[in-house]
Amino acid sequence: MTKAEPLLSLRGITVDLTGPHPARIIDGVDLTVQSGRATALIGESGSGKTVIGNAVIGLLPETMRTQGELLFEGRALLELPESQRRALRGRGIAMIFQDPLAALNPSQRIGRQVAEIPRRHGLRRAELRQTVRGLLERAGIPRPEERARAYPHQLSGGLRQRAMIAMALSGEPRLLVADEPTTALDVTVQKRILDLLAGLQRQFGLGMLFISHDLRVVSHVADDVVVLYAGRVAESGPAREVLTHPCHPYTRALALSVPSVHTASLIAQPIQGAAANPADRPSGCAFHPRCPLAQERCAVEVPPLRDTAPGRRAACHFAAEVANA
Ligand SMILES: Nc1ncnc2c1ncn2[C@@H]1O[C@H](COP(=O)(O)OP(=O)(O)O)[C@@H](O)[C@H]1O
Ligand code: SF4
Ligand SMILES: [Mg+2]
Repeated sequence: MTKAEPLLSLRGITVDLTGPHPARIIDGVDLTVQSGRATALIGESGSGKTVIGNAVIGLLPETMRTQGELLFEGRALLELPESQRRALRGRGIAMIFQDPLAALNPSQRIGRQVAEIPRRHGLRRAELRQTVRGLLERAGIPRPEERARAYPHQLSGGLRQRAMIAMALSGEPRLLVADEPTTALDVTVQKRILDLLAGLQRQFGLGMLFISHDLRVVSHVADDVVVLYAGRVAESGPAREVLTHPCHPYTRALALSVPSVHTASLIAQPIQGAAANPADRPSGCAFHPRCPLAQERCAVEVPPLRDTAPGRRAACHFAAEVANA
């Protein structure tokens, strides 16, 4: 991998639902994550964020077929045999989920679960215990030895998420895929977990694909942002620029729905209408039924993703007008 090459790169990724009701739920997604940086994938519920995250880690169900270019450290993941992809999971690429209780084994002590990957290196008992303690400490868990002996249900939501982070770190990954990691937590705990992730990212130079529907969370952690609408990229670019000066009406609507993100607005304005289902996408621009700027051509022509400024892209026939509005 050369220095300029992204850690993770998706080019024209499609995910097709096969079976009795086939549909292209992810339609030509481009996305990159650089080492030591966080790319946020944002969009409303049902827009396809989890499908993309699971495509990256190779955990989609058999009924979904991924095509396109998916490179991790320059390696084409979709061409690797399953055995090699499995070997990457947890090591090269680790993941944390929204619900640690569902992801952790309820009948196994935390320490044992965190030890799973290090144990494969043939460490002796004392070394293993030391390693687990170090990982729990790194994830900000106080009294790590005591917590290592606990079962998942005995910990608070915040501590469970930290235990998942400790597990994720145990394979010394270069890329962390975090799918709504703080959505189930209350606001103060959320903030601490986000600070922890940002700190770890800096400390270890981790790249992070941070998946969230919450713009406030995204504006905390993201360097770059990819806005997803019904399985397509609406807009992408540096997070601060995209969130404060959107080029796409959907990003603008998202930003206006959170008053603290868009400085021009003090009152939240919810987006009108319901989010489009990627399995049954409206014609033309999928956002057209909800878009305040929609014209006739929007219902017919799919707007291509075009450069709007260096490092920025948007898929709207009228992106230039939105940017100058
Ligand atoms: N297991 C599945 N079977 C069929 N369709 C699915 C499945 N999982 C997701 N989908 C489809 O993919 C879309 C995106 O889902 P998802 O990635 O979970 O959204 P998000 O994470 O953005 O809330 C859903 O709206 C649905 O149409
Ligand atoms: S292409 Fe048309 S409908 Fe789609 S976001 Fe732009 S103005 Fe709105
Ligand atoms: Mg999801």
